[in-house]
Amino acid sequence: MSPYARVAGLGKYLPERVMPNAELERLVDTSDEWIRSRSGIAARRIAAEGETAATLGLAAARAALADAGLDAADLDLIVVGTSTPDHYAYPSTACLIQAALGARRAGAFDLAAACSGFVYGLVVSAQFVQTGAYRHVLVIGSEVNSRILDWQDRGTCVLFGDGAAAVVLTATDAPGGLLAFELGADGSRADSLIVPAGGSRAPASHETVEGRQHYIRMDGPEVYRFSTLIVPEVVERLCASAGLAASAIDLLIPHQANSRIIQSAARRLALQEGAVFVNLERYGNTSAASVPIALCEALAEGRLQSGHLLALIGFGAGLTWAGALWRWH
Ligand code: ACO
Repeated sequence: MSPYARVAGLGKYLPERVMPNAELERLVDTSDEWIRSRSGIAARRIAAEGETAATLGLAAARAALADAGLDAADLDLIVVGTSTPDHYAYPSTACLIQAALGARRAGAFDLAAACSGFVYGLVVSAQFVQTGAYRHVLVIGSEVNSRILDWQDRGTCVLFGDGAAAVVLTATDAPGGLLAFELGADGSRADSLIVPAGGSRAPASHETVEGRQHYIRMDGPEVYRFSTLIVPEVVERLCASAGLAASAIDLLIPHQANSRIIQSAARRLALQEGAVFVNLERYGNTSAASVPIALCEALAEGRLQSGHLLALIGFGAGLTWAGALWRWH
């Protein structure tokens, strides 16, 4: 019989420095009232000098391994969802974390799916566990968005923050774990959320730096329209493929980009009161780290019990989306 994937441990790391909306009022033409009412965000964390996707991810990974009661040498694979890797070409952030952990048996790679990166990584990792190929896989979402934000662009700099979280997936014979999943992409809308330069298409040059092309550029309304549609659609498809009603979901953890996107999805799905987890007021959009940070906090708050039906939904640049319907062990 094939094994099931169980979340055996979780951990998160948020940089110490809190940047409240009031601080942004001094940087760009914005207001605390605008940011709160349009996005639901009150504050975000900002990485200190010297902190990187690897150091944030490492701290989260250590906490997840301790929670699982495992040693780094037990790991078979490390998958890191990130759009802000320590190095753009190589080495991967996963390799840096592998070395720092001392996970000498583990393979390691980064997965680029922007804000969908953690849920993509979780689904990919669960396949290795469910086939019996690997016993322990570490999945990390880690982002230092502050380094690719244009702090002169009020349309983006108010929305994002830094952070990391990790889970350890372990093989078990107890039924549960991943019931249904969807990995999606619409690359025809790549331009709506893009860092234009720094890759092989527009390598770094004086012109790209002067043109501020190494920062996030976003068509906010376009991404907003996409996000409000995709979250409920994916939840409905996941539930249908598992033969369950959306009303059976005990907890929905969507990517934390905007509280209006989340509220609209909850309304359309007619989810029961308290069935949607939101923490973006404290952290803003932490891209690939948002879903696992929220998962850690939901568990710590007692919102997730054994047997609960959990829906994790990521969406973001690419455009990409990913959904996982999960029976919690
Ligand atoms: N402060 C004050 N005013 C602002 C700000 C700001 N920070 N930003 C934009 N505005 C202004 C605009 O200039 C515009 O002014 P105008 O009418 O004079 O032109 C006005 O506010 C309205 O702008 P919109 O962009 O239409 O505002 P909207 O209500 O759509 O909210 C927002 C903008 C919050 C960006 C919204 O579109 C959104 O959340 N989009 C999705 C973003 C998202 O989720 N991105 C991440 C995806 S995940 C990933 O992979 C990275």
